[in-house]
Amino acid sequence: GLSTSASRAVLRSSRSPMKIEAVAVTTLPTAPIEGQKTGTSGLRKKTDVFMGENYLANWVQSLFSTLGEDLKGSTMVLGGDGRYFNKEAAQVILKLAAGNGVAKVLVGQNAILATPAASAVIRTKKAFGGLIMSASHNPGGPKEDWGIKFNYTGGEPAPESITDQIFGYTQSVTELKMAEFDDVDLTTIGTTELDGFTVEVIDPVEDYLALLSKVFDMDLIKGLLSREDFKMKFDAMHAVTGAYAKPIFVDALGASEDSVVNNVPAEDFNGGHPDPNLTYAKELVATMFGEDAPAFGAASDGDGDRNMILGDNFFITPSDSVAMIAANAEAIPYFAEGIKGLARSMPTSGALDRVAKDMGVPFFETPTGWKFFGNLMDAEKCSICGEESFGTGADHVREKDGIWAVLAWLSIIAYKNKDVPDGGELVTVKDIAMEHWAKYGRNFFSRYDYENCASEDAAKMVDHLKEVIANSPPGTMIGDYEVAVADDFCYTDPIDGSVASGQGLRFVFADGSRMIFRLSGTGSSGATIRLYIEQYSDDVSTHGMDAQDGLAKLIATALETSKLQEFTGRDGPTVIT
Ligand code: G6P
Ligand code: ZN
Repeated sequence: GLSTSASRAVLRSSRSPMKIEAVAVTTLPTAPIEGQKTGTSGLRKKTDVFMGENYLANWVQSLFSTLGEDLKGSTMVLGGDGRYFNKEAAQVILKLAAGNGVAKVLVGQNAILATPAASAVIRTKKAFGGLIMSASHNPGGPKEDWGIKFNYTGGEPAPESITDQIFGYTQSVTELKMAEFDDVDLTTIGTTELDGFTVEVIDPVEDYLALLSKVFDMDLIKGLLSREDFKMKFDAMHAVTGAYAKPIFVDALGASEDSVVNNVPAEDFNGGHPDPNLTYAKELVATMFGEDAPAFGAASDGDGDRNMILGDNFFITPSDSVAMIAANAEAIPYFAEGIKGLARSMPTSGALDRVAKDMGVPFFETPTGWKFFGNLMDAEKCSICGEESFGTGADHVREKDGIWAVLAWLSIIAYKNKDVPDGGELVTVKDIAMEHWAKYGRNFFSRYDYENCASEDAAKMVDHLKEVIANSPPGTMIGDYEVAVADDFCYTDPIDGSVASGQGLRFVFADGSRMIFRLSGTGSSGATIRLYIEQYSDDVSTHGMDAQDGLAKLIATALETSKLQEFTGRDGPTVIT
């Protein structure tokens, strides 16, 4: 049975026609549910798992129990990527928030908030933290994925110290503290006052756009977008940036209406896989690699933190994108006072390292996962960072930021063309890349993904590779490559001294090339093996080569060394980026 405790409250709503008479906090019994440990970025499962009895509520209660006294009287942010189940989930979360003593929740209209926008709102509104309902780039719908994550006071994904505690609570949770009130209207901007608890529905774009407007020279970008000889395409992939694309690119920056496509967020992302890469962003890739392609193309993922950057018949690999943005930071006013430092995740190519060296700024190599950049940023040691997994960003928020990356590239293109008259010889995305490689050399890079492998097969391959590593001291030859370092990547956070071990099996060779094996931490079922391959060339005559050609030999060596095919039965990867 339910036991009703404490605080009766009366709704005083200024805008809702809904008559909510009173709220009361009730204590609902529950029991632990297995498998609620968060991965690289929050808890992700099939939607029907989350829809199962108390599954979501148990996790959220465990989060609130973790936050404990700090939560009382606090302001929290809530939003998500617009996927199926978000609206129902938002109502459950609001009731738990009220039941656990949160004073106010700022909710994006229709429960929408892109991940970087949520980070921006947490920071701007000085909220205690926020809940983001998203499974990022994973498909959405009743048979697809759902997810949730907690971002902390600085707008950053919760550190492991918190997620570990949440997991602990999920293993012992016995009661849910739920306030009782009718569902709150989230469709209209405005405030609903309940006694001791307020829900404010906010414009999901406003704070974020205000922040971006301070970061970038918006007039510089407007100038580019008003040129006759410059066309762009932004593909929101039917996901959350659909809510941002028109307000930002069209309304604020003057791009033509047809510059944004697939920009109505759909609960199932229109059946698509909202991951901006060469495989899943098919429509944009077809446009950008077609005849009469626009000069610039970009896409963002389910929750708006990832990005893909394309030029006319040209792909910028994310590892290069972050390096090129850093090298051209003078185009972005936010960096006028200088770059504090640069950082990339371990599997990301070393292109950024070369820029950091050239600039003489601190450089950091972190494990996969955006959360590792937060400490560096808080300590003012990192201005720009990026990951090979289509994540790029800066310290204006504590998440990677898809639209920020697009605006960064538009700024660079605009800056390079400021003296080129309309109709003149436009400096292209490709020109910018070739110029960069001519200066720094090119780090050829590719990633092979083997999705949905059997977990035990993947584990066997990992064990095998660990053995190879144990038998590969520096100087060992693997194929034609001489080992410089072979290890399981381990990171000691330079700020708080925390240690993250087991972060990826890497082989770094004497010529600087690398092969890296990792299991994805973001999948919702089975195991995804990622193979990252990198090779450096300072020979300009090779720079125009296709990455796959440039890397063929090392890829073959990687497949041989890992016996990937033998262990998994896979003839080829499911995705190549
Ligand atoms: C998410 C995280 C990133 C991470 C990426 C890949 O997008 O926010 O920081 O790089 O997932 O993670 P995975 O574990 O699937 O390789
Ligand atoms: Zn994402």
